[in-house]
Amino acid sequence: MSKIEEARELLEKNGQAHIKVNNEELAEQILKLDFNKIKTLYSRLNKKIKFENVEPVKAINPDKLPREQIEEYKQIGEDIIKQKKFAVAIMAGGQGTRLGHHGPKGTFKVKINNTDKYLFEIIIEKLLKAKKEYNVYIPCYIMTSSENNSETVRFFEENNFFGYPKEYLKCFIQEDLPLLDEDGKLILGEDKKIKLASEGNGGIFCSMKKNKIIAEMKRKNIEWIFIGAVDNLLAKYVDTLLLGLTVSQNTKIATRTVIKSNPCEKVGVICKQNNKIKVVEYTEIPEEMRTAVNEDGEMLFGESHIMCNLFNIKALEIASTNKMKYHAAHKKTNYIDNNNRLVIPKKENCYKFEKFIFDSFELFDDITILRGKRAEDFAPIKNSEGQDSPETAIKLYEAYITKKA
Ligand code: UD1
Repeated sequence: MSKIEEARELLEKNGQAHIKVNNEELAEQILKLDFNKIKTLYSRLNKKIKFENVEPVKAINPDKLPREQIEEYKQIGEDIIKQKKFAVAIMAGGQGTRLGHHGPKGTFKVKINNTDKYLFEIIIEKLLKAKKEYNVYIPCYIMTSSENNSETVRFFEENNFFGYPKEYLKCFIQEDLPLLDEDGKLILGEDKKIKLASEGNGGIFCSMKKNKIIAEMKRKNIEWIFIGAVDNLLAKYVDTLLLGLTVSQNTKIATRTVIKSNPCEKVGVICKQNNKIKVVEYTEIPEEMRTAVNEDGEMLFGESHIMCNLFNIKALEIASTNKMKYHAAHKKTNYIDNNNRLVIPKKENCYKFEKFIFDSFELFDDITILRGKRAEDFAPIKNSEGQDSPETAIKLYEAYITKKA
């Protein structure tokens, strides 16, 4: 049987015969799809997430710790870095749709104190600063997607890796999943291929395993991995305090938070549910949880996830072998219809399935939560204007570096 015939049969068997296969490339793509997974994802669409038994978590506020203790924690972190037991991973597989930037989000340019800088460049500058302070090049792993990998790799090459030795920078590609229409059907894109999208930042664990990144880290005796986003100008990728505190608390995972600015801010919040650590994403948080306050009128669930997460290598291994759940997002996507015409929908017409990095927290008994400060830790670039835009993020970042200078 030819590949084309095989693909047609597979589509027929799985209720997807509306896709007409007449070339090998499409056939090959179809033969690689996991139809059982596709069916399961669609069947779980309407499963409501339960938010019973949720309680707030306690974060450690460094302002309340004695100065010597902070220095002690920082020293522990510093020693780990100097012993080459620390690595950084950057999640850069997202599309940056809200920002309206074409290309990998890390290639977005911002003007910092009158100098143009790319987001990737700012991250590398922080690693170069660490090299100066601790005399080690920290290995940096960048998660890309099949959509933006070659552009990301080319960008780094063209910019000479911003002065970082290229053997310490490695890109790896995360997995894709098909988009499904409202009836659970596969969608054909303008390139006449099945429309796929990256499977969310929680895909980092299995992608690291599949691409042998975890094995490489183990070979290099790396014990701690900071995993951060590409779009927070203030992210501390080399966070000695978080590292030392986590080691001292004897936990395998840790996160730096800030207090949510208002109940509607688009951030996930950390809580406990049935005694397990959980992050409730802003897209899924129930109203009563979003607006809950304590007797002093403060938000009960205000400890926000700012994507500054630290994992022990053992935690990475555990997360990489566990199945993580998928969250569905209702989205708009262009497609080619059965009459071979391009359709540009006016409203949401498909589901995108994503794993979230913080769902891995549930796999562990305990987590170290260190409370940071907005002005020092969180300047995200999400939208082209207004809140969390280049304008607001640059202002925060410039104020921070001026104060530090
Ligand atoms: C994310 C967090 C949210 C947090 C907020 C802080 C998740 C699921 N959500 O929301 O809890 O409060 O940031 O700013 O973590 N990415 C990939 N691959 C993907 C999807 C995303 O690598 O398939 C990367 C992006 O490139 C980016 C990061 O993950 O670096 C965040 O993704 P984004 O979609 O912008 O998350 P938010 O909705 O802002």
